[in-house]
Amino acid sequence: MNAWIRKSVRMLTPYTPGEQPKRPDRVIKLNTNENPYPPSPQVARAWREFDPRLLRLYPDPLCGRIRARIARLHRCDPAQVFVGNGGDEILMLCSRAFAEDGGSVGYFDPSYSLYPVLADIRGLKKKPVELGPDYDWRMPSGYRASVFFLTTPNAPTGIQYPRAVVEAFCRTFPGVVVLDEAYVDFARDNYMDLALCRDNALVLRSLSKSYSLAGLRVGYAVGPRPLIGALFKIKDSYNLDRLSQALALAALSDVAHMRRNTRKIVATRERLARTLLDMGCAVYPSDSNFLWVRPAGISAATLFRRLRERRIMIRYFAGRRTGRCVRITVGTDAETDAMIQAWKGLTA
Ligand SMILES: Cc1ncc(COP(=O)(O)O)c(C=O)c1O
Repeated sequence: MNAWIRKSVRMLTPYTPGEQPKRPDRVIKLNTNENPYPPSPQVARAWREFDPRLLRLYPDPLCGRIRARIARLHRCDPAQVFVGNGGDEILMLCSRAFAEDGGSVGYFDPSYSLYPVLADIRGLKKKPVELGPDYDWRMPSGYRASVFFLTTPNAPTGIQYPRAVVEAFCRTFPGVVVLDEAYVDFARDNYMDLALCRDNALVLRSLSKSYSLAGLRVGYAVGPRPLIGALFKIKDSYNLDRLSQALALAALSDVAHMRRNTRKIVATRERLARTLLDMGCAVYPSDSNFLWVRPAGISAATLFRRLRERRIMIRYFAGRRTGRCVRITVGTDAETDAMIQAWKGLTA
């Protein structure tokens, strides 16, 4: 019976993930910012060497080995590291940990569409900050929120906000700043140092994009001990299973593989951006593994639909701020070329 369900849950519009086709091998899939290259061979090796008999035992509830590895990577203490079941779990825990009942959640508009859903789940006030016409960021004066999800590079635009602006925001914002850096390995800069020197900021990272592990579900947060400690207090007892811990550790032990792939993707991104500019499209400067593009000579919605008919999947977000553009994940060079060929066929 509906009355058994909490009113806020009855009213909730849930998050809509990008489409996952039943046969991904039969499409060119440029719609959910996955990495087109396989994860490190170390991951395959850890998979082969994993002893399934160990699955009868609960996993390490604190993900000790991964946290030690991440702490070495970022030159911090393991007590400053939290590991979660994807970055999404960590965002959800932040919405639970850093806002009182009746508190509020801030984020850019447009940005990652999970944030308002997290606010709704908890019944928190939503305080979106509307970005300018070219997605430039200016904070309204006197703005306050309990927690702010500062996505940089932002999604779906790919734009990274300048260090000085981000630093000044963290300095003056009265609540917790979650620097969502899910895409930062494709960017020129990163703001990890802010989370390591400030007491109100933490950084979120994901293994889904740069480490080619979207299917594994691992992300992590780095920041001041009290904020990280709060996430530990409220997490599920065993939030990362044994297999995920083993494979994530293997991936994090081969950062060189991740860097080689991100370099390839950045080179393809720049080539794709030049091609689209030559075709008359507006292309926003991207520091991520996708491009935000206003097509020329065809509407964004039609382009999305017609490419999909040709088994090429890109992402379209209807809406006032997003409906004139498409988001294209950077695939391999061959996938990118096939997408461009099909696109040119539609506008010829
Ligand atoms: C901006 C942003 N943050 C966080 C995430 C979460 O990533 P995951 O849960 O796969 O680690 C995503 C995923 O698309 C994202 O776009």
